[in-house]
Amino acid sequence: MSEKPAILFVCLGNICRSPLAEAAFRAAAEREGLDVHAESAGLGKWHLGYPPDPRAQAVARRSGIEMGDKRARLVTTDDFRRFDHVIGLDADNLAGLRRLAPADAHATVSLLLDHVPGREGQSVTDPYYEDDSAFDDAWNDACEGAEALVARLRGEAAQR
Ligand code: 4NP
Repeated sequence: MSEKPAILFVCLGNICRSPLAEAAFRAAAEREGLDVHAESAGLGKWHLGYPPDPRAQAVARRSGIEMGDKRARLVTTDDFRRFDHVIGLDADNLAGLRRLAPADAHATVSLLLDHVPGREGQSVTDPYYEDDSAFDDAWNDACEGAEALVARLRGEAAQR
């Protein structure tokens, strides 16, 4: 395994929450000077090959982040061997990931908000069938989780 931490964010469709988490995490890592590998994937097949939902792209763009090049893909069993952390956005995602994880998984499986002190066990709510404010909430949660995760990984890197 390389020194650079590899993180996979996973939601249901891979068009709203996990691309936001991936983008927020990459931005937070860059701000902190932490070298990372980040991707995102989904548990459902509906939107494979599609870019992120326009509402998700819009909320990221308001923070200066473009994610139009991202294409939705499914999480695979090999992802649990390739990544250090496989991170679900909600409790259903976490249950799906635990079912999918192979016996020889390398990755640690967790919820994004487990990494935020005081928010352990909380889900990032699915905004897909909601209004624009739900995308603001998902983005704010993604940023909070991403920053906490970067702080944790920086601490781990400092101990090596
Ligand atoms: P995501 O949102 O899991 O945050 O990407 C969803 C996108 C699509 C659907 C559900 C959630 N869908 O049912 O198509």
